[in-house]
Amino acid sequence: MKVSLGPKCAALPLPAFLVGTYDGNGNPNVMTAAWGGILSSDPPAAGVSVRPTRLTFDGISANKAFTVSVPSIPLVAETDYCGIVSGYQHNKFGESYLTPVPSTLVKAPYPDECPLVMECRLHKTLELGSHVLFVGHILNVLAEETVLTDGEIDTLKTNPVVYGPDQGYFSLGEKVAKAFSVGKKLFRGRGE
Ligand SMILES: Cc1cc2nc3c(=O)[nH]c(=O)nc-3n(C[C@H](O)[C@H](O)[C@H](O)COP(=O)(O)O)c2cc1C
Repeated sequence: MKVSLGPKCAALPLPAFLVGTYDGNGNPNVMTAAWGGILSSDPPAAGVSVRPTRLTFDGISANKAFTVSVPSIPLVAETDYCGIVSGYQHNKFGESYLTPVPSTLVKAPYPDECPLVMECRLHKTLELGSHVLFVGHILNVLAEETVLTDGEIDTLKTNPVVYGPDQGYFSLGEKVAKAFSVGKKLFRGRGE
């Protein structure tokens, strides 16, 4: 029997991303975001939901651009750090020893240490309440060769930081089945 819990955010786990922006003075900043993800395939789009109190909010609003980077597990402390201090008070790139690299396509930086980066141009903004959803078109993806298999992104090699229950960071678990495939065994053709 299900128990009604009222309105809640109840869909963990989510990827932990690092969102790169420039502030109003052109300084690079980076913020952790778990409220976000891939939103469209064609054209490719990604979104992050950001509270207006964040410096990142001002950065995206000012430059109409952001980067969404996937940190790998060895970067878990840096990922957490970028989510507990604000660029209003801290130079997070400097203090975390992450290296800001300017995107050549959009006015936003990304941390060089992240193996996977999406360079996004702001497409739409949606006010949701506590957070504002910034939807960006992914103009380009930058990937370290080390996370590719036959030229394609190999997520197991990316080894992403996953934000999960009990405010925990997790790595990916076991693959349990093949998507677009395992469900086929439930097909019931006519006459069966
Ligand atoms: C795991 C984790 C996930 C977070 N996800 C979000 C998020 O999706 N949106 C948001 O506005 N803040 C999120 N935060 C909080 C911001 O990262 C944090 O307030 C940060 O200091 C803001 O930095 P800024 O002011 O430099 O932009 C998250 C923090 C952590 C630790």
